[in-house]
Amino acid sequence: MEELIYLDNAATSWPKPDNVYEFMIDFYKACGVNPGRSGFDKAIEAGNILEDTRKRLTAFFGGDVDAPERLCFSYNATDALNLLIQGALKPGDHVVTTNVEHNSVIRPINHLVRDHQVEATYVPFDTNGFVDPGDIASAIRPNTRLVIVNHGSNVLGTVQPVADIGRLCKEKDVVFAIDASQTAGMVPIDMQAMNIDVLAFTGHKSLMGSTGIGGLCIRKHVELAQTRSGGTGVRSAYPFHLPEYPYRMEFGTPNMVGIASLWAGQEFIDQSGGVEKIHAGEMKLANKLVAGFHAIDGVTTYCCDSMDNHLATVTMNVEGLEAGDVGIMLDVDFSIATRTGLHCAPLVHQQLGLVDIHGGVRFAAGPFNTEAHIDAAIEAVTEIAERARNMKRVSAK
Ligand code: ALA
Repeated sequence: MEELIYLDNAATSWPKPDNVYEFMIDFYKACGVNPGRSGFDKAIEAGNILEDTRKRLTAFFGGDVDAPERLCFSYNATDALNLLIQGALKPGDHVVTTNVEHNSVIRPINHLVRDHQVEATYVPFDTNGFVDPGDIASAIRPNTRLVIVNHGSNVLGTVQPVADIGRLCKEKDVVFAIDASQTAGMVPIDMQAMNIDVLAFTGHKSLMGSTGIGGLCIRKHVELAQTRSGGTGVRSAYPFHLPEYPYRMEFGTPNMVGIASLWAGQEFIDQSGGVEKIHAGEMKLANKLVAGFHAIDGVTTYCCDSMDNHLATVTMNVEGLEAGDVGIMLDVDFSIATRTGLHCAPLVHQQLGLVDIHGGVRFAAGPFNTEAHIDAAIEAVTEIAERARNMKRVSAK
Protein backbone atom coordinates (compact mmCIF):
# COMPACT_ATOMS: atom_id res chain seq x y z
CA MET A 1 0.00 0.00 0.00
CA GLU A 2 1.15 3.51 -0.80
CA GLU A 3 2.53 5.32 2.23
CA LEU A 4 -0.01 7.70 3.77
CA ILE A 5 1.02 11.34 3.83
CA TYR A 6 -0.54 12.52 7.06
CA LEU A 7 -1.45 16.21 6.98
CA ASP A 8 -4.20 16.14 9.60
CA ASN A 9 -2.11 17.13 12.60
CA ALA A 10 -4.65 19.76 13.70
CA ALA A 11 -7.04 16.87 14.41
CA THR A 12 -4.38 14.93 16.27
CA SER A 13 -0.63 14.71 15.96
CA TRP A 14 0.44 11.45 14.38
CA PRO A 15 2.62 9.53 14.55
CA LYS A 16 3.67 10.17 18.13
CA PRO A 17 7.36 10.28 18.97
CA ASP A 18 8.80 6.82 19.69
CA ASN A 19 9.71 7.83 23.22
CA VAL A 20 6.01 8.56 23.92
CA TYR A 21 4.84 5.11 22.77
CA GLU A 22 7.66 3.45 24.69
CA PHE A 23 7.13 5.39 27.91
CA MET A 24 3.38 4.74 27.90
CA ILE A 25 3.83 0.99 27.52
CA ASP A 26 6.70 0.76 30.00
CA PHE A 27 4.84 2.86 32.54
CA TYR A 28 1.63 0.84 32.26
CA LYS A 29 3.45 -2.48 32.50
CA ALA A 30 5.61 -1.43 35.42
CA CYS A 31 3.25 0.81 37.32
CA GLY A 32 -0.33 0.63 35.98
CA VAL A 33 -2.00 0.78 39.38
CA ASN A 34 -4.40 3.30 40.85
CA PRO A 35 -2.56 6.37 42.20
CA GLY A 36 -3.63 7.99 45.44
CA ARG A 37 -5.92 5.13 46.45
CA SER A 38 -3.48 2.80 48.18
CA GLY A 39 -0.22 3.06 50.09
CA PHE A 40 1.95 0.39 48.47
CA ASP A 41 5.09 1.37 46.62
CA LYS A 42 3.72 1.14 43.09
CA ALA A 43 0.70 3.26 43.98
CA ILE A 44 3.09 5.89 45.32
CA GLU A 45 5.22 5.63 42.18
CA ALA A 46 2.14 6.13 39.96
CA GLY A 47 1.13 9.08 42.15
CA ASN A 48 4.60 10.57 41.66
CA ILE A 49 4.22 10.61 37.86
CA LEU A 50 0.81 12.25 38.27
CA GLU A 51 2.13 14.98 40.57
CA ASP A 52 5.37 15.49 38.65
CA THR A 53 3.41 15.93 35.41
CA ARG A 54 1.16 18.51 37.09
CA LYS A 55 4.24 20.44 38.17
CA ARG A 56 5.94 20.16 34.82
CA LEU A 57 2.91 21.34 32.84
CA THR A 58 2.20 24.17 35.29
CA ALA A 59 5.73 25.47 34.68
CA PHE A 60 5.40 24.85 30.93
CA PHE A 61 2.28 27.06 30.75
CA GLY A 62 3.66 29.74 33.08
CA GLY A 63 1.02 28.99 35.71
CA ASP A 64 1.49 29.31 39.48
CA VAL A 65 4.34 26.91 40.18
CA ASP A 66 3.66 27.15 43.92
CA ALA A 67 0.14 25.81 43.27
CA PRO A 68 0.55 22.83 40.89
CA GLU A 69 -2.66 21.34 42.28
CA ARG A 70 -4.41 23.87 40.05
CA LEU A 71 -3.35 21.92 36.99
CA CYS A 72 -6.31 19.56 36.84
CA PHE A 73 -6.57 16.66 34.42
CA SER A 74 -9.66 15.92 32.38
CA TYR A 75 -10.47 13.66 29.43
CA ASN A 76 -9.77 16.21 26.68
CA ALA A 77 -10.12 19.92 25.94
CA THR A 78 -13.89 19.66 25.43
CA ASP A 79 -14.26 18.14 28.88
CA ALA A 80 -12.00 20.79 30.40
CA LEU A 81 -13.90 23.60 28.65
CA ASN A 82 -17.25 22.28 29.91
CA LEU A 83 -15.88 22.27 33.46
CA LEU A 84 -14.59 25.80 32.96
CA ILE A 85 -17.69 27.30 31.32
CA GLN A 86 -20.17 25.66 33.67
CA GLY A 87 -17.96 26.39 36.66
CA ALA A 88 -17.37 30.06 35.81
CA LEU A 89 -20.83 31.20 34.75
CA LYS A 90 -23.93 31.53 36.87
CA PRO A 91 -27.45 32.71 35.97
CA GLY A 92 -27.44 36.39 34.98
CA ASP A 93 -23.83 36.39 33.79
CA HIS A 94 -22.59 37.48 30.38
CA VAL A 95 -19.75 35.82 28.47
CA VAL A 96 -17.68 37.23 25.61
CA THR A 97 -16.24 34.87 23.07
CA THR A 98 -15.41 34.87 19.34
CA ASN A 99 -16.39 33.54 15.94
CA VAL A 100 -13.08 31.64 15.88
CA GLU A 101 -14.28 29.19 18.54
CA HIS A 102 -14.62 25.45 18.26
CA ASN A 103 -17.89 23.74 19.21
CA SER A 104 -16.22 22.77 22.49
CA VAL A 105 -16.79 26.40 23.52
CA ILE A 106 -19.76 27.33 21.33
CA ARG A 107 -22.04 24.50 22.40
CA PRO A 108 -21.55 24.64 26.19
CA ILE A 109 -22.15 28.40 26.01
CA ASN A 110 -25.16 28.04 23.70
CA HIS A 111 -26.72 25.49 26.03
CA LEU A 112 -26.52 27.97 28.90
CA VAL A 113 -27.94 30.72 26.66
CA ARG A 114 -30.73 28.44 25.38
CA ASP A 115 -31.69 27.64 28.97
CA HIS A 116 -31.97 31.40 29.67
CA GLN A 117 -29.14 31.30 32.15
CA VAL A 118 -26.51 33.51 30.55
CA GLU A 119 -26.05 35.96 27.69
CA ALA A 120 -23.23 35.65 25.18
CA THR A 121 -21.54 37.95 22.68
CA TYR A 122 -19.58 36.49 19.76
CA VAL A 123 -16.91 38.86 18.44
CA PRO A 124 -16.04 38.42 14.72
CA PHE A 125 -12.52 38.18 13.32
CA ASP A 126 -11.06 40.53 10.71
CA THR A 127 -10.25 39.68 7.08
CA ASN A 128 -6.89 38.27 8.16
CA GLY A 129 -8.46 35.98 10.77
CA PHE A 130 -7.59 37.98 13.90
CA VAL A 131 -9.86 39.22 16.64
CA ASP A 132 -9.32 42.85 17.62
CA PRO A 133 -8.66 43.09 21.39
CA GLY A 134 -10.52 46.43 21.34
CA ASP A 135 -13.66 44.63 20.09
CA ILE A 136 -13.40 42.21 23.00
CA ALA A 137 -13.02 45.09 25.46
CA SER A 138 -16.02 46.91 23.92
CA ALA A 139 -18.17 43.79 24.31
CA ILE A 140 -17.50 43.59 28.05
CA ARG A 141 -20.50 44.62 30.18
CA PRO A 142 -20.92 45.11 33.93
CA ASN A 143 -22.19 41.51 34.23
CA THR A 144 -19.48 39.95 32.03
CA ARG A 145 -17.92 37.18 34.08
CA LEU A 146 -15.80 35.41 31.47
CA VAL A 147 -13.93 36.13 28.24
CA ILE A 148 -12.91 33.00 26.40
CA VAL A 149 -10.84 32.99 23.21
CA ASN A 150 -9.52 30.26 20.95
CA HIS A 151 -5.76 30.88 21.06
CA GLY A 152 -5.06 29.21 17.71
CA SER A 153 -7.78 28.58 15.15
CA ASN A 154 -8.15 24.96 14.07
CA VAL A 155 -9.45 26.23 10.70
CA LEU A 156 -7.56 29.42 9.88
CA GLY A 157 -4.38 28.71 11.83
CA THR A 158 -4.32 32.29 13.11
CA VAL A 159 -2.94 32.84 16.62
CA GLN A 160 -4.91 35.47 18.52
CA PRO A 161 -3.23 38.33 20.42
CA VAL A 162 -4.01 36.83 23.81
CA ALA A 163 -1.52 38.94 25.76
CA ASP A 164 -3.30 42.13 24.64
CA ILE A 165 -6.71 40.63 25.37
CA GLY A 166 -5.46 39.42 28.77
CA ARG A 167 -4.26 42.92 29.68
CA LEU A 168 -7.64 44.43 28.81
CA CYS A 169 -9.53 41.74 30.75
CA LYS A 170 -7.32 42.35 33.77
CA GLU A 171 -8.04 46.09 33.59
CA LYS A 172 -11.76 45.29 33.52
CA ASP A 173 -11.46 42.59 36.20
CA VAL A 174 -12.97 39.84 34.04
CA VAL A 175 -11.71 36.24 34.05
CA PHE A 176 -9.80 35.55 30.84
CA ALA A 177 -9.58 31.97 29.57
CA ILE A 178 -8.00 30.51 26.46
CA ASP A 179 -8.70 27.35 24.54
CA ALA A 180 -5.14 26.24 23.84
CA SER A 181 -6.10 23.03 22.01
CA GLN A 182 -4.12 23.98 18.91
CA THR A 183 -1.33 25.97 20.58
CA ALA A 184 -0.28 24.07 23.70
CA GLY A 185 3.10 22.62 22.77
CA MET A 186 3.29 24.70 19.61
CA VAL A 187 3.38 28.35 20.67
CA PRO A 188 5.11 29.59 23.83
CA ILE A 189 2.52 30.41 26.50
CA ASP A 190 3.21 32.28 29.72
CA MET A 191 -0.06 32.58 31.63
CA GLN A 192 1.34 35.05 34.15
CA ALA A 193 2.99 37.35 31.62
CA MET A 194 -0.05 37.17 29.29
CA ASN A 195 -2.65 37.63 32.06
CA ILE A 196 -4.34 34.36 31.20
CA ASP A 197 -6.44 33.23 34.16
CA VAL A 198 -7.46 29.80 32.91
CA LEU A 199 -6.01 27.65 30.13
CA ALA A 200 -7.70 24.58 28.67
CA PHE A 201 -5.49 22.06 26.87
CA THR A 202 -5.69 18.73 25.14
CA GLY A 203 -2.91 16.17 25.30
CA HIS A 204 -3.09 14.56 21.88
CA LYS A 205 -2.14 17.47 19.62
CA SER A 206 1.13 19.39 19.96
CA LEU A 207 1.77 18.19 23.50
CA MET A 208 2.39 14.89 21.65
CA GLY A 209 0.50 12.76 24.17
CA SER A 210 -2.33 10.29 23.68
CA THR A 211 -6.03 10.86 23.19
CA GLY A 212 -8.20 10.82 26.32
CA ILE A 213 -6.21 13.32 28.33
CA GLY A 214 -6.51 17.10 28.69
CA GLY A 215 -6.99 19.58 31.47
CA LEU A 216 -7.25 23.03 32.94
CA CYS A 217 -4.52 25.21 34.39
CA ILE A 218 -6.23 27.61 36.79
CA ARG A 219 -4.46 30.60 38.33
CA LYS A 220 -4.61 30.97 42.12
CA HIS A 221 -6.97 33.95 42.16
CA VAL A 222 -9.69 32.19 40.10
CA GLU A 223 -12.42 30.12 41.69
CA LEU A 224 -14.53 27.79 39.59
CA ALA A 225 -17.68 26.16 40.92
CA GLN A 226 -17.75 22.39 41.03
CA THR A 227 -20.21 20.85 38.61
CA ARG A 228 -19.53 17.13 39.08
CA SER A 229 -18.81 14.83 41.97
CA GLY A 230 -17.52 11.37 42.73
CA GLY A 231 -14.51 9.50 43.98
CA THR A 232 -11.31 11.26 44.96
CA GLY A 233 -9.39 8.46 46.67
CA VAL A 234 -8.93 10.50 49.84
CA ARG A 235 -11.23 11.60 52.72
CA SER A 236 -13.78 9.04 51.61
CA ALA A 237 -16.06 9.59 54.63
CA TYR A 238 -16.79 13.17 53.58
CA PRO A 239 -20.28 13.14 52.02
CA PHE A 240 -19.61 15.67 49.27
CA HIS A 241 -16.99 16.12 46.59
CA LEU A 242 -13.83 17.68 48.00
CA PRO A 243 -13.69 21.44 47.37
CA GLU A 244 -9.91 21.75 47.29
CA TYR A 245 -7.82 21.52 44.12
CA PRO A 246 -7.07 19.28 42.30
CA TYR A 247 -10.02 17.22 43.55
CA ARG A 248 -12.39 20.10 42.91
CA MET A 249 -11.95 19.55 39.17
CA GLU A 250 -11.03 15.85 39.05
CA PHE A 251 -13.44 12.95 39.35
CA GLY A 252 -12.66 9.25 39.61
CA THR A 253 -9.59 7.32 38.55
CA PRO A 254 -7.39 9.43 36.28
CA ASN A 255 -6.17 8.39 32.84
CA MET A 256 -2.71 7.47 34.07
CA VAL A 257 -1.41 6.23 30.72
CA GLY A 258 -2.51 9.53 29.19
CA ILE A 259 -0.73 11.43 31.96
CA ALA A 260 2.41 9.34 31.36
CA SER A 261 2.14 10.24 27.66
CA LEU A 262 2.16 13.92 28.57
CA TRP A 263 5.28 13.43 30.65
CA ALA A 264 6.98 11.75 27.69
CA GLY A 265 5.62 14.45 25.34
CA GLN A 266 7.38 17.06 27.47
CA GLU A 267 10.60 15.06 27.16
CA PHE A 268 10.17 15.04 23.38
CA ILE A 269 9.59 18.80 23.23
CA ASP A 270 12.68 19.43 25.36
CA GLN A 271 14.83 17.03 23.36
CA SER A 272 13.65 18.63 20.10
CA GLY A 273 14.88 22.04 21.23
CA GLY A 274 11.61 23.47 22.58
CA VAL A 275 8.35 24.75 21.13
CA GLU A 276 9.87 27.62 19.11
CA LYS A 277 12.17 25.26 17.25
CA ILE A 278 9.42 22.74 16.49
CA HIS A 279 7.10 25.54 15.42
CA ALA A 280 9.76 27.07 13.13
CA GLY A 281 10.20 23.71 11.37
CA GLU A 282 6.47 23.33 10.82
CA MET A 283 6.08 26.93 9.61
CA LYS A 284 8.78 26.37 6.99
CA LEU A 285 6.57 23.61 5.59
CA ALA A 286 3.39 25.70 5.91
CA ASN A 287 4.98 28.64 4.07
CA LYS A 288 6.04 26.33 1.26
CA LEU A 289 2.53 24.86 1.08
CA VAL A 290 0.87 28.28 0.93
CA ALA A 291 3.30 29.55 -1.72
CA GLY A 292 2.54 26.43 -3.77
CA PHE A 293 -1.23 26.85 -3.39
CA HIS A 294 -1.09 30.54 -4.30
CA ALA A 295 0.53 29.63 -7.61
CA ILE A 296 -2.33 27.28 -8.61
CA ASP A 297 -5.14 28.70 -10.72
CA GLY A 298 -8.50 28.23 -8.99
CA VAL A 299 -7.19 27.62 -5.47
CA THR A 300 -8.26 29.93 -2.65
CA THR A 301 -6.61 29.89 0.78
CA TYR A 302 -8.13 31.60 3.82
CA CYS A 303 -6.24 34.05 6.05
CA CYS A 304 -2.84 32.96 4.77
CA ASP A 305 -1.64 36.13 3.02
CA SER A 306 0.73 36.62 5.93
CA MET A 307 1.92 33.62 7.90
CA ASP A 308 3.00 35.73 10.89
CA ASN A 309 1.22 34.73 14.11
CA HIS A 310 0.08 31.58 12.39
CA LEU A 311 0.10 27.84 12.95
CA ALA A 312 1.04 25.34 10.25
CA THR A 313 -2.67 24.95 9.50
CA VAL A 314 -3.89 25.98 6.05
CA THR A 315 -7.49 25.78 4.83
CA MET A 316 -8.27 26.10 1.13
CA ASN A 317 -10.82 25.33 -1.57
CA VAL A 318 -10.60 24.46 -5.23
CA GLU A 319 -12.94 26.47 -7.43
CA GLY A 320 -15.81 24.38 -8.78
CA LEU A 321 -15.42 21.53 -6.29
CA GLU A 322 -17.01 20.72 -2.95
CA ALA A 323 -14.49 20.55 -0.10
CA GLY A 324 -15.47 16.95 0.65
CA ASP A 325 -14.81 15.88 -2.95
CA VAL A 326 -11.33 17.40 -2.85
CA GLY A 327 -10.66 15.50 0.40
CA ILE A 328 -11.78 12.22 -1.18
CA MET A 329 -9.55 12.78 -4.22
CA LEU A 330 -6.59 13.61 -1.98
CA ASP A 331 -7.18 10.44 0.02
CA VAL A 332 -8.08 7.96 -2.72
CA ASP A 333 -5.91 9.20 -5.60
CA PHE A 334 -2.93 10.64 -3.72
CA SER A 335 -2.94 8.96 -0.30
CA ILE A 336 -2.93 12.32 1.47
CA ALA A 337 -4.92 12.66 4.72
CA THR A 338 -6.59 16.03 5.35
CA ARG A 339 -9.78 17.12 7.12
CA THR A 340 -12.66 18.65 5.17
CA GLY A 341 -15.96 20.23 6.17
CA LEU A 342 -16.71 22.67 8.96
CA HIS A 343 -14.03 21.37 11.36
CA CYS A 344 -16.39 21.69 14.38
CA ALA A 345 -15.97 25.47 14.04
CA PRO A 346 -19.12 26.49 12.14
CA LEU A 347 -18.92 30.23 12.89
CA VAL A 348 -15.57 30.50 11.10
CA HIS A 349 -17.10 29.02 7.96
CA GLN A 350 -20.25 31.11 8.35
CA GLN A 351 -18.23 34.30 8.56
CA LEU A 352 -16.16 33.27 5.52
CA GLY A 353 -19.34 32.37 3.61
CA LEU A 354 -18.25 28.75 3.12
CA VAL A 355 -21.20 26.92 4.60
CA ASP A 356 -22.92 26.50 1.21
CA ILE A 357 -19.89 24.71 -0.20
CA HIS A 358 -19.58 22.63 2.96
CA GLY A 359 -16.53 24.32 4.41
CA GLY A 360 -12.95 23.88 3.31
CA VAL A 361 -10.06 21.46 2.98
CA ARG A 362 -7.58 21.69 5.85
CA PHE A 363 -3.91 20.76 5.67
CA ALA A 364 -2.00 20.74 8.96
CA ALA A 365 1.70 19.91 9.13
CA GLY A 366 3.28 18.32 12.19
CA PRO A 367 6.80 17.65 13.44
CA PHE A 368 7.19 14.49 11.34
CA ASN A 369 6.20 15.97 7.99
CA THR A 370 8.85 16.62 5.35
CA GLU A 371 9.34 18.90 2.35
CA ALA A 372 8.59 15.86 0.16
CA HIS A 373 5.13 15.61 1.77
CA ILE A 374 4.48 19.25 0.97
CA ASP A 375 5.68 18.84 -2.63
CA ALA A 376 3.31 15.88 -2.98
CA ALA A 377 0.40 17.92 -1.59
CA ILE A 378 1.08 20.80 -4.00
CA GLU A 379 1.32 18.41 -6.95
CA ALA A 380 -1.91 16.68 -5.95
CA VAL A 381 -3.82 19.96 -5.61
CA THR A 382 -2.38 21.16 -8.94
CA GLU A 383 -3.83 18.07 -10.60
CA ILE A 384 -7.18 18.33 -8.79
CA ALA A 385 -7.51 22.00 -9.80
CA GLU A 386 -6.79 21.02 -13.41
CA ARG A 387 -9.50 18.35 -13.22
CA ALA A 388 -11.92 21.01 -11.95
CA ARG A 389 -11.04 23.35 -14.83
CA ASN A 390 -11.53 20.52 -17.34
CA MET A 391 -14.91 19.66 -15.80
CA LYS A 392 -15.90 23.33 -16.15
CA ARG A 393 -14.84 23.37 -19.82
CA VAL A 394 -16.81 20.17 -20.55
CA SER A 395 -19.95 21.41 -18.81
CA ALA A 396 -19.71 24.75 -20.68
CA LYS A 397 -19.83 22.96 -24.08
N1 ALA B 1 -10.73 19.73 16.93
C1 ALA B 1 -10.08 18.79 16.06
C2 ALA B 1 -9.97 19.31 14.66
O1 ALA B 1 -9.94 20.48 14.46
C3 ALA B 1 -10.61 17.42 16.15
O2 ALA B 1 -9.92 18.53 13.74
